[in-house]
Amino acid sequence: MSSPKIWTHKGTFLLAAVGSAVGLGNLWRFPYLTGENGGGAFILVYALTIALVGIPILIAETLLGRASRKSPIMGMQYLTESHNTSRNWRAIGWMGAFAAFIILSFYSVIAGWAIHYTGLMFSGSLVGADAATIGESFGDLLASPGLLLTYHTLFILASGLIVGMGIHKGIENGLRFMMPALFVILLIVLGYGVVAGDVGAAMSFLFTFNLADLSLEGWLQAMGQSFFTLSLGMGAIMAYGAYMSSEASLTRTAISIAFVDTAIALLAGIAIFSLVFGSGLEAGQGPGLMFVTLPIAFAELPAGWLIGGVFFILVIGAAITSSISLVEPVAAYLVERFGLSRPIAVTLMITFCWLLGLLTVFSFNYWSEGTITHDWFGRSPFDVLEFITNILMPLGGLLIALFAGWALSREEVLREMSTNDTWFQCWQFLVRFVAPTAVAFVFLRTMPQIDGYLIPAVGSVLLIGAFTAGRTFIQQRQS
Ligand code: TRP
Repeated sequence: MSSPKIWTHKGTFLLAAVGSAVGLGNLWRFPYLTGENGGGAFILVYALTIALVGIPILIAETLLGRASRKSPIMGMQYLTESHNTSRNWRAIGWMGAFAAFIILSFYSVIAGWAIHYTGLMFSGSLVGADAATIGESFGDLLASPGLLLTYHTLFILASGLIVGMGIHKGIENGLRFMMPALFVILLIVLGYGVVAGDVGAAMSFLFTFNLADLSLEGWLQAMGQSFFTLSLGMGAIMAYGAYMSSEASLTRTAISIAFVDTAIALLAGIAIFSLVFGSGLEAGQGPGLMFVTLPIAFAELPAGWLIGGVFFILVIGAAITSSISLVEPVAAYLVERFGLSRPIAVTLMITFCWLLGLLTVFSFNYWSEGTITHDWFGRSPFDVLEFITNILMPLGGLLIALFAGWALSREEVLREMSTNDTWFQCWQFLVRFVAPTAVAFVFLRTMPQIDGYLIPAVGSVLLIGAFTAGRTFIQQRQS
């Protein structure tokens, strides 16, 4: 066997994990969820979940990667064998790969919208346009399968190209150039937001809170978002962790990732809400916040086309540094397991995701509301895909927390975490009890939102499956 691959620099894991974490989740999803859920109170709950659930699971997932030094599927096979646990825990690897396909398939389509808006901004075609026209132009984009497909193809090819070039030449070099550039762009947009918008209104919206504003729904969304934004539960972090230097401190790195990711979401929130409030617009517009509300603000501000164009480049870049972490685990598996060359493995992965992406593309036009094919169990194909990931991500995180918390030995974890006993015990308590409870809560809560009994039934079966897996594991250990 060849010696395991390691990142060239000690700090690359941090860079790569931040690249994976910071994406559409920070720039698009976080601001609109905050907007819909009343601001500060939502952020408070979100920050709490990041600290108590997100960071411990982030440590757990990295730990599994670094302890196995393999792609998630092969890594879980190795860990279950070396720790003499039930083989069922290998589901962590398989579910992660499955989720990666689904997420990449629609992530790429949505990131494609940002390519379209970059063009619209720089061409100046939205300058001075009124709200209705801008709303319509978004509708026109969604109605055009040709346009959506073109952008989807471009985006997925770009991600594949970077991963195909290998972890050093492609991923490491790409990130080392892209991450600082993206940060600078964010600061420019933020500076512009402060000068041209209403930063006071944005700050008071984001940082004053009244817990009574927050519904139970908002609580759960905040918890779900903390998972999504840290890229947890899908093997992406595990795959990157497999290349992490043994010297880097896991605990400190995980805390830094969570801190930077949250800081970037907040800075993006300040920038976006300054512009939105400065133009007298509403915060609670849902997913259209970035693609309709924000362009309306840019359309009337001085040099808005320029800053708007730059902003959408930031969105594309942040999405690419995330999408490469979705390609990597599956590609690495195909290379390890079947001895494929990396370019071929990547081509297979992205071809399949591209095809799956057609479901999302057609959900907005051929199969949109009112057509026969629209109805897949009462929702559009895109909603179905999103729903599946909303199940797989927490479930993956839950299993990762349980496996790392119960199956790995104390010495092993202490050595990897390189912290003292108090921190270790604190971590262990969080991954053994707190995180699983929190996740199970979010998870069960997703269920009844779906029509009828089908999904609660499927959900219960999955949960029972998880517990059976846990029991089998404990039995095997004792034997
Ligand atoms: N964290 C990414 C974002 O904020 C989205 C994401 C969720 C992701 N799960 C992932 C990215 C797994 C890469 C791998 O946009």
